[in-house]
Amino acid sequence: MVEITVNGKKYQVDKGITILEACNRLGISIPTLCNDDRLEPYGACRLCVVEIKGRRNLEASCSTKVRDGMEIETHSEKVIKARKEILDLLYSNHPEDCLTCEKAGECKLMDYCYEYGIKKGSYIGEKKKYPIDESNPFYYYDPNKCILCGKCVRVCRDLQGTSAIAFKNRGFNTKVSTPFDMGLATSDCVSCGNCVANCPVGALMPKKPEKFRTWEVKKVKTTCIYCGVGCQMYLLVKGNRVVGVEPARGKANNGLMCVKGRFGYGFINHPDRLKTPLIKRNGKFEEATWEEAYDLIVNKIKEIREKYGPDSLGGLSSAKCTNEENYLFQKMFRALIGTNNVDHCARL
Ligand code: FES
Repeated sequence: MVEITVNGKKYQVDKGITILEACNRLGISIPTLCNDDRLEPYGACRLCVVEIKGRRNLEASCSTKVRDGMEIETHSEKVIKARKEILDLLYSNHPEDCLTCEKAGECKLMDYCYEYGIKKGSYIGEKKKYPIDESNPFYYYDPNKCILCGKCVRVCRDLQGTSAIAFKNRGFNTKVSTPFDMGLATSDCVSCGNCVANCPVGALMPKKPEKFRTWEVKKVKTTCIYCGVGCQMYLLVKGNRVVGVEPARGKANNGLMCVKGRFGYGFINHPDRLKTPLIKRNGKFEEATWEEAYDLIVNKIKEIREKYGPDSLGGLSSAKCTNEENYLFQKMFRALIGTNNVDHCARL
């Protein structure tokens, strides 16, 4: 442990952690735009700067480690002035379309401009005008809104392991881009949407089949049904309809998802979706109750078992079920029906 002083109060914190980590643990809030605790500190946005006694310059708290005896000010006059300047510069180069921006309500730039009282950008210089890349079927990229925090690039490279996007050019011309700037559709992008989930502003946004504002939806935590990994996610529910999905930090996925779980939710509200069991009568499927369906299954299984013996039956289970469901399924076949003819699609 080391002893540090934050805003005049002494604390014991773990050795080797950053000032930002220490302050987070102590409940002292420091604004960040480029930090993600799953990634190496990057020090791009400088919004997390703090004043450290004895140092001439403000230091980025996300990439400065605590030292014994350190005296830190997280909200001194000098720090606030620097943060305001950074936000002013960012907002000066940002489209002023917050009223219609899809990110409104969960934009970190908007939140911090509100917190630090930035009402308009005071730098009038030349704004870049880039075309919006809509070539990906599930999300779009608007470089005009990008604040170059680099989270999308680092998540794609360091967590997802795809490296479909990277920075192009330098200085004012810097841009997050695909190889040869040919667009997302021609890149290695696997449409996992992990860049989208981590963009702090409205630069990377999912294409929404139904319009909604973030405050109109209820987030319901659940487990993805597409495979047995058990990724945790939130269903975004507006009224009684699922209108989107966001990754959750679960043990299996740590906030990451694949394209199916992230964007493949259209089946939930699809008109062709089966909502009741169907039983074939006189060559035609007819809607039935669950009781009718279960009775039919049980009677058929009993009939076949009596006539041909238990080994005439076999059960094929699914990787989409949980371990517990698969366990129960094989148990039912072995103990109840009396056969070891059990298999699972993951083995095929
Ligand atoms: Fe520290 Fe961006 S969060 S520089």
